[in-house]
Amino acid sequence: MVDYSVNGSVALLLVNNPPVNALSHAVRKGLADGMLKAEKDRNVKAIVIAGKGRTFPAGADIREFSRPKREPWLTSVGNNIESSRKPVVAAIHGTCLGGGLEVALFCHYRVALKSAKVGFPEVALGILPGAAGTQRLPRVTGLPIAFDMITSGRHVSADQAKKYGIIDEVFTGDIVNSGIKYALSMVGKSTIPRRLRAVQVPGGENVQEYADAAMAQVKKKYKGYQAPVYCVRAIKASVEKPYDLGVKNEETLFKVLGQSGQARAQQYAFFAERLVGKWQMPGGNSETAKPLPVRSTAVIGAGTMGSGIAVCILSAGLPCYLVEQNEKFLNNGVKTIKALMEGSVKLGKISVEVGQRAASLLKPTMSYDDLTGVDLVIEAVYENLDLKKEIFAKLDKICKPSTILCSNTSSLDIDRIAVATNRPEKCVGVHFFAPAYHMKLLENIYSTRTSPVTAATVMKLGKTIGKVPVLVKSCQGFLANRMNTPYGTEATFLVEEGALPWEVDQVMEDFGMPMGPFKVRDLSGLDINVKITEEIAKTFGIKLTDETRFVGGNRYSHLNATLVNMGRLGRKSGKGWYKYEKAGGKLATVDDEVISVLERHCRRLGMERRTVSSQEIIERLLYPCINEGFKILEEGIAKRPEDIDISWLYGFTFPKYLGGPMYYASQVGLDRIYDRICHYHEAFPYSKHWVPSLLLRRLSEQNIPLSQWMASPGAKL
Ligand code: CAA
Repeated sequence: MVDYSVNGSVALLLVNNPPVNALSHAVRKGLADGMLKAEKDRNVKAIVIAGKGRTFPAGADIREFSRPKREPWLTSVGNNIESSRKPVVAAIHGTCLGGGLEVALFCHYRVALKSAKVGFPEVALGILPGAAGTQRLPRVTGLPIAFDMITSGRHVSADQAKKYGIIDEVFTGDIVNSGIKYALSMVGKSTIPRRLRAVQVPGGENVQEYADAAMAQVKKKYKGYQAPVYCVRAIKASVEKPYDLGVKNEETLFKVLGQSGQARAQQYAFFAERLVGKWQMPGGNSETAKPLPVRSTAVIGAGTMGSGIAVCILSAGLPCYLVEQNEKFLNNGVKTIKALMEGSVKLGKISVEVGQRAASLLKPTMSYDDLTGVDLVIEAVYENLDLKKEIFAKLDKICKPSTILCSNTSSLDIDRIAVATNRPEKCVGVHFFAPAYHMKLLENIYSTRTSPVTAATVMKLGKTIGKVPVLVKSCQGFLANRMNTPYGTEATFLVEEGALPWEVDQVMEDFGMPMGPFKVRDLSGLDINVKITEEIAKTFGIKLTDETRFVGGNRYSHLNATLVNMGRLGRKSGKGWYKYEKAGGKLATVDDEVISVLERHCRRLGMERRTVSSQEIIERLLYPCINEGFKILEEGIAKRPEDIDISWLYGFTFPKYLGGPMYYASQVGLDRIYDRICHYHEAFPYSKHWVPSLLLRRLSEQNIPLSQWMASPGAKL
C-alpha cells in the first residue's frame, strides 16, 4: 500500500490506499519498510512522502480502532522518519489530517499544493492526535494556534498553514514533482535542526495562562465533550514535560479517550453520516439513480424560511430566483438575504469573494414567468395545503418538463401536494430546519410517486449546499417532527404533574441538549405551538378550553394556551415559561408567576403536584421519542437507525457524544427502555406515544442488540 520508486537520487514513498489513504496497518508497515529501503540505498540522498490519488493520508484508519493494536504504531514509523539523516519531505495535496499531519510533522520539510488542507480532526471522533501531534504541532505553531487547531479540529488552508509555520512552501501544479525538486535542494543539509523533538515550544513561558484560556474556552464551547479537555491537557504537557514524556502522556490520554463511550458514539456518528448518503427507496438507490444537473434554482416565498434557503443556495454558487407576489415582502426578503450573507462574511464563514458572488446570483422577481427554464424550484410558503397545491399547479404549467418541484414542508403529505401537477414523479419534500442557513439537517421526503432520480437530485443538492441530507418516506410529521413531538408534549405534562420548567430544562441541558425544551419553546414562540394544537383539535371538532383534558383520545394540557392567553408568548413578548428582563431580553430567569399559574392549573384539575426525579425527566422526554423511532423503522419511514440518529444530531443538536437517540437506546439497553415504556404506558394509557413499538418489543424479548439488527435490517422483523 506504499509504492516505492527512486527518481534520480530521490526515493518516493507514495501511499496508495484509496479512497483517503488512511494509515492502516499495511500503510504504516509500507512506510516503515520504504524508509528502511531508502536509508540503505546509497544512491538515495533524499526522500519524499506523498499520497496517490485524491489526497495525502487523511488520518489513521478509524475502522482499526476497534481492533487490537498492531505494530508498527505510527509514532515509531515517525521516529524513523525524523531520525533519518537524509532529508525527508512531505509533499501534501488534498486533506492532510490527523495521523497524516503527524507523518508530515515527523518529516523534516513540508510542502503543499495551494488547494491542500491540514488539520487535526480527532476531537470530532472523541479522541486526540495519538502519534505525537499534540507535542509536535505546538513546537511549530506556538501554543495558542496549537490549542485552537487541535481542540476545534478545524481544517486550515495551505496558505494559512504556511503562515502558521506548518508548511514550508506552497506550490501549484504537480505536487510530487515540486516535492522531489524541493528535496533535491535540501540534499547535504543536516536534518538535525529540523527535528521537532528538540525544538522549544514558542511561548512556553506563558503555558499556564494559555492553557487556562483554552480550557475555559472548550468547557464553554464544547460543553460535555471529554476530548477537547484532554487535548488541552496533552498540549500543555508539550511545555511541562520533556518530549518523550509528553508523548507518553499523550499515549495514556489517547488510550483513556479511545476506550470511552463518547469516542465510540462519535465514531459511530462519523460512519452514520456517511451511511445516510447511501440511501434506498422503492425502485432505486444512491448507486443506481443518477441526479439531474441543477444549474439554476428558484425559491418561492421570501419569508424567514425562504430567505434562509436562498442564502444556502447562493452561498454554494448557484443562481437563485427569489419569488414574491408583493413588492414589500420581496424587498424585505432581499434585505434579509443580504444581511445574512454580510453576517457570514463577518464571521468568516464565507469569504468576501464568495459573498459578493452569491449576492450577484440573486434574482428577485414577482413574475413566475421568469421560472420557465429553472432546473429546480423550492416552494417555501407557510404550511397550508391549498396554497401549496395552488403554487405547485402554477409551477407545473410554467416550468420546463424536467424541472423538479420541491416543497419545504415540515408535515404536509407530499402526495397530496403532488396531485396538483402532471409530474408527481418530479415532486419531492425538502424540509429545512430553522434557521435554514445554519442548521445542517435537510430532511428529503419521497412520496409514493417520487422517482429515484428526483430523490437523487435533492440528495445531491443537499450536499452541494453544505447540508447533511437524509431521505425518508412521507408520513405525518415525517421522521424528525413525528419523533420529536412527544419530547415537548411530555415536558408540559411533567410540569403539570409537579416539575418546574427550569428543573426540566436543567436536567436536559445536563444531559447534553444545548437548550431545555421550555427555553426552546420560548424562543420559537408559544403561540405557534398553540395554533398547531388548535388546528389538530379542530379536526376532532373540539374547541380547546382550560377544562379540556383529551384531544382525539390523547392526553392534552392547556398550560401553553393559558400562558399565551396571559400575553406570555415567549421571548418576543418578554415572558413565556420564563421572564426575559436581563441582558437585553435574552437571559431567561425564573418567574414566580409561572409557579402560581401551575399551582392554579393543578388545583382546578384536582391534580396533586409531586416531586419528579431527574431520571424520570430523561425517561419521560426521550423514551417516547425512541419508541416512535422504532415505529418509524417498523413502518419503513426511515430505512436505518443511522437515518434517525443523524436527523437528531443535525436537526435537534442531540449531543454527538451520545451518538443519537437510537444509539443511546442501544447503550441504555433495549430491555430497560422497553420495560420503562411499558411502565409509562400503564401509567398514562391516554398518550398514544407510550404504546410500545412491536419492533422494540421483539428486539427486547428476543434479546437482539440493536447493533446486530442494524447489520441485518429487516431480517429479524
Ligand atoms: N479511516 C477509515 N475510513 C475513512 C477515513 C478514515 N480516517 N476517512 C474517510 N474514510 C472513508 C469513509 O468512511 C468513506 O467510506 P465509504 O465510501 O465506505 O462510505 C470514504 O472513506 C470516503 O470518505 P468521505 O465520504 O468522508 O469523503 P469526503 O471526500 O467527503 O471527505 C475526508 C474526505 C475529509 C478525508 C473525510 O472522510 C474525513 O474527514 N475523514 C476523517 C479524517 C479524520 O478524522 N482523520 C483523523 C483520523 S484519527 C487519527 O488520525 C488518530 C491519530 O492521531 C493516529
